[in-house]
Amino acid sequence: MDIKTEKAKKLSGEIIIPPDKSISHRCAMLASLTGGKVKIKNYSKGADCRSTLKIVEQLGCDVEFLNENDVIINAPKILRKSCFELDCGNSGTTMRLMSGILAGQRFNSTLTGDVSLSKRPMKRIISPLEKMGALIEHNDFKAPLTVKGKKLHGITYNSPIASAQVKSSLLLAGLFAEGETTVVEPYRSRNHTELLFDYMNVDITRNSEVSTTVKRSKPEPKDLEVCGDISSAAFFMVAAAIVPDADIMIKNVGINHTRAGIIDILKKMGADIRICNERIVSGEPVADIAVRYSELKGVTIEGADIPRLIDEIPVIAVLATQADGTTTIKDASDLRNKESNRIKTMVEQLRKIGAKITETEDGMIIFGKTPLYGNAEIECFHDHRTAMSFYIAGLVCENPLLIKEFEWVNTSFPEFLELITSLKE
Ligand code: S3P
Repeated sequence: MDIKTEKAKKLSGEIIIPPDKSISHRCAMLASLTGGKVKIKNYSKGADCRSTLKIVEQLGCDVEFLNENDVIINAPKILRKSCFELDCGNSGTTMRLMSGILAGQRFNSTLTGDVSLSKRPMKRIISPLEKMGALIEHNDFKAPLTVKGKKLHGITYNSPIASAQVKSSLLLAGLFAEGETTVVEPYRSRNHTELLFDYMNVDITRNSEVSTTVKRSKPEPKDLEVCGDISSAAFFMVAAAIVPDADIMIKNVGINHTRAGIIDILKKMGADIRICNERIVSGEPVADIAVRYSELKGVTIEGADIPRLIDEIPVIAVLATQADGTTTIKDASDLRNKESNRIKTMVEQLRKIGAKITETEDGMIIFGKTPLYGNAEIECFHDHRTAMSFYIAGLVCENPLLIKEFEWVNTSFPEFLELITSLKE
């Protein structure tokens, strides 16, 4: 489905942000390991999280939808072998985290993915899991992965990258390993796995901000609720910051510090943003966020802030075209390993519509403020976040954009078009 964007005169109103993708995956996976019954309120409708649900079902869980938002997972005492391949679709989180779980089972499993996922690097999890005793067959360190269940032993792993997927894969494998499993990161990545471990009484120790240890244990069956996804909310925060006359309220947004880099950057750029009604939902901090249009200035984004906003960089690139001065994004080379090469995609496609932007090895430099003239066909390269970022760019383009294969938004955010339309006049 190709769609045409339209310049927005104004954005106003209130929206409720749909459930967090990262947290939904983890709720389903941990529920599958409890040996009991877990109700998950507000589970993501995105295709990625549906892939995870389907896989836990193939591994012996009973998955029952109470309605379109809430699901009950009834887990077997131990997971069971699936006769079929486990299809992760477009979801890197599913493949990397499930590999950790499957490495410690008593059976073999094969994880497959779509064309884009089959090109993404898996060595980052295969090597450390093998150090724990796992046996994984792969296609030059890419999917399909055949994970042969083995007895695992704990290790201390100094990860060369700050990746929550790597950390979570090892911590999940640690639930089945003899001894202690410790993961140390260069910077702190998102900590949803650790918060859920706490909530479900798994034996976990925080040694420091960047070092976590887990011991063999079984999560307790407890009902869970998933908060709204800050990565989805980011599109609306940016839209309100750049569309003149915008004034919106975004409700039920997870504001976990390890994910909330976008809020800090918007503030640093001078955005008019207010955090209200802070609360805790299943161990995660949540709030409502009000954003209004304002003048913005360029900033530098680097180092420890990168893992806190890694998925928001495509839409931050759009934001930066509307800020006075230079915005420099560095230390973000792992963006080249996402659903598309997000550095290349964003630079090439933004240039087509009038942005002044330069590609660097580990990021990009954006010179603002530039009028965006639109009048271009945008390729999203099977990447939901680039598709949505260009929809937001389209709100300030003089002329329409034609975004190709916009259906890729369904990977994480099937509700996107309906919500953005509800804010237009
Ligand atoms: C995710 C972690 C991030 C992020 C991805 C989801 C997760 O990847 O980009 O969309 O749920 O753990 P990395 O941990 O590989 O950076």
